Amino acid sequence: MTTVSDILQPVELDLENLLVDLRSLIGAGHPILQAAAEHLFSAGGKRLRPGIVLLISRSLTPQGDLPVKHLKLAQITEMIHTASLVHDDVVDEAATRRGVATVHSKFDPRIAVLAGDFLFAQASWHLANLENLQVVKLLSRVIMDLADGEIKQGLFRYDSCQSFSTYLEKSYCKTASLIANSSKAIGVLSEVSDSNLDMLYLFGKKLGLAFQVVDDILDFTGSDQQLGKPSASDLASGYLTAPVLYALEEKTILSEFIERKFSNEGDLDKALELVRSSNAIDRSRQLAEKFASESRHAIDWLPESSSKEALLGLSQFVLGRLY
Ligand code: IPE
Ligand code: IPE
Ligand code: MG
Ligand code: MG
Repeated sequence: MTTVSDILQPVELDLENLLVDLRSLIGAGHPILQAAAEHLFSAGGKRLRPGIVLLISRSLTPQGDLPVKHLKLAQITEMIHTASLVHDDVVDEAATRRGVATVHSKFDPRIAVLAGDFLFAQASWHLANLENLQVVKLLSRVIMDLADGEIKQGLFRYDSCQSFSTYLEKSYCKTASLIANSSKAIGVLSEVSDSNLDMLYLFGKKLGLAFQVVDDILDFTGSDQQLGKPSASDLASGYLTAPVLYALEEKTILSEFIERKFSNEGDLDKALELVRSSNAIDRSRQLAEKFASESRHAIDWLPESSSKEALLGLSQFVLGRLY
């Protein structure tokens, strides 16, 4: 099976250096917060976001070393992503992440909140030091969107009347905004035309949406071990994602279980079964495929190169997680 590391091969060396450097940057702060942040970094994520930034940079600058600012931008995206995970796990009360204990369960929730803040703050500082106002605006918007997404998600918990567009807006804020805006930001640093900047944004947005829909499907179909985090937890927490919203169209009884917050014995299992036995998983998969294909078309204009192939491969990889 193709792994994400295989796909990121054209920028593998840059990515390795970047992560070593990132860990030493984090090392510059308070020891406990440093330990908390280091804990999650060392568990090793897929490095999709910095990978995307570097691949776009490489496809626009095929020869020579990548400019330092490009590497910094990639680092900043991973820092923002990791900060959002630390906070998300506190909000979701999740016990594991990347196959290890979450920061709040290993340390404590106060440390996790501070460690997340610390990472966001560090990211903002490094962002400002890129000295490019347009890039600063794009990435600080992401930090706003992340908070907005968590708030939206919280407000619509157990709300079986919420619209599909509410779910997509939430997914944009929580997941797609970072990929979209960092893809555009690396375009800004690479000085591409405004219309190509729009296409880079679209590429990231659609890829991010595909990624979130797939993650939401996996919550129903994957195992804890496969995901490195608890499965079947979205619905239990009242987070209604694409599979549930589609299933609600077919099986109206589902809304009763949701509205009473699964308070009767067996409610949650029955609800999970209703979703799994409906067409909802299939429809969600088709939606993810549509987003992934739109993301691929958005980079038609990039010159042919192994990095472009890798970017196209990433959208296949995202879907491939389902099989
Ligand atoms: C997890 O993102 C959060 C979602 C947007 C679903 P990743 O699956 O990219 O997390 P890591 O960085 O590889 O752990
Ligand atoms: C992921 O959100 C974290 C962010 C994108 C901020 P979710 O709650 O949907 O994803 P997991 O399941 O915890 O990774
Ligand atoms: Mg979560
Ligand atoms: Mg999830």
